[in-house]
Amino acid sequence: MLPIKHTLFLVSGVSSFIIFYMGIVNYLTSVEGVTGVILLIFSVFVATGTLLGTVYISRSITKPIEKLAQNMTEFSKHNKMTGKNQIKTNVKEIFELNENFESMGEKVETTIEVQNEYVQKLKDMDRKKLEFSSMVSHELKTPLVPILGYVQMLQKKELLGDLNEKQTEAVNEIYSSTVKLQRLVGDILTTQKLDLGKLDFNQEEIKVSELLESIIKEFTPITEEKKILLNLEMFEDVKIFSDRDRINQVFSNLIKNAIDFVTSGSGVVTIGCREDKEFVKFFVQDNGVGISDENQKEIFKKFYQIDTSTSRKRSGSGLGLAICKGIIEGLGGQIWVKSEEKVQTTFFFKIPKKPLTITAKATE
Ligand SMILES: Nc1ncnc2c1ncn2[C@@H]1O[C@H](COP(=O)(O)OP(=O)(O)O)[C@@H](O)[C@H]1O
Ligand SMILES: [Mg+2]
Repeated sequence: MLPIKHTLFLVSGVSSFIIFYMGIVNYLTSVEGVTGVILLIFSVFVATGTLLGTVYISRSITKPIEKLAQNMTEFSKHNKMTGKNQIKTNVKEIFELNENFESMGEKVETTIEVQNEYVQKLKDMDRKKLEFSSMVSHELKTPLVPILGYVQMLQKKELLGDLNEKQTEAVNEIYSSTVKLQRLVGDILTTQKLDLGKLDFNQEEIKVSELLESIIKEFTPITEEKKILLNLEMFEDVKIFSDRDRINQVFSNLIKNAIDFVTSGSGVVTIGCREDKEFVKFFVQDNGVGISDENQKEIFKKFYQIDTSTSRKRSGSGLGLAICKGIIEGLGGQIWVKSEEKVQTTFFFKIPKKPLTITAKATE
């Protein structure tokens, strides 16, 4: 794009040259020498006048316009008014343009300031609410410990005596409901800690083969009972520096989900890992119902559950995958899913091998 100053000087330069050239031509071709000289002097005056006029116009019009354009560009970049009251001009329209721009800029600046204040206030309120609900969850968790303790004592007749059949049934029901409640409160607490950036992570050396074998050992009784095959697929044994308990928690959530969505008798769940440059990529695969492309985008959000007949039968809060995402991202990694409906689902997560400065991240 051609700047206004260059255009102005180009036009006036060409005009001055033509006038001066005509003066010379007149001088050289005129019969009367005096007329030729007068026309030449006249053309020199006009050409010089045109050039001087252009310099004047450039000073009083193009310079302020250039400065205004510069101020506007700065403003659009930083939303801050710079170079206020710097434009001096006698041209009414430019003066008004500048005045209007400055007053508009001041209004925008004030609006942005107010908006930032509101955002900060909302953030503070949100944080206070989160802290309050976190405290409530904690208070809810505390009495569950003695409840569970006494129920377990009631289940052992050598401790609190014999119970009849109906009493045993009732105590067993109290026990399983209390365990579910404890798990739910635990999940809510973990999610709140992740949102507040207060979830602590450890770092220790982990031999991946040992980690995966212990997970297989933990889940085999459950999968055997449900007639599901649980496999381990490991390509290389590696060591990583990370948080063993948190990785266990992620595997536990993913395997529990996988078990829920495969068919008893033909269900296969495979866990494993592969090295992936400076990361180790873990996976949990199942041959269950699968997840549609649309739902794959949503399942890592808090409280998101897919409404199907299978999922309606199972209990759950929709927090498991959100917690997995928060933990993995807090450990410096990534989690994602690949799935084909009615064929298979694989959850992948990769974790850096080396220790890193860990911070808990809020999930969506
Ligand atoms: N392996 C899987 N196969 C099919 N659907 C799954 C699988 N894992 C998770 N999902 C879907 O993702 C939803 C969210 O999972 P999650 O966050 O663990 O919550 P929850 O297990 O409490 O329902 C589940 O309700 C389920 O519909
Ligand atoms: Mg789950």
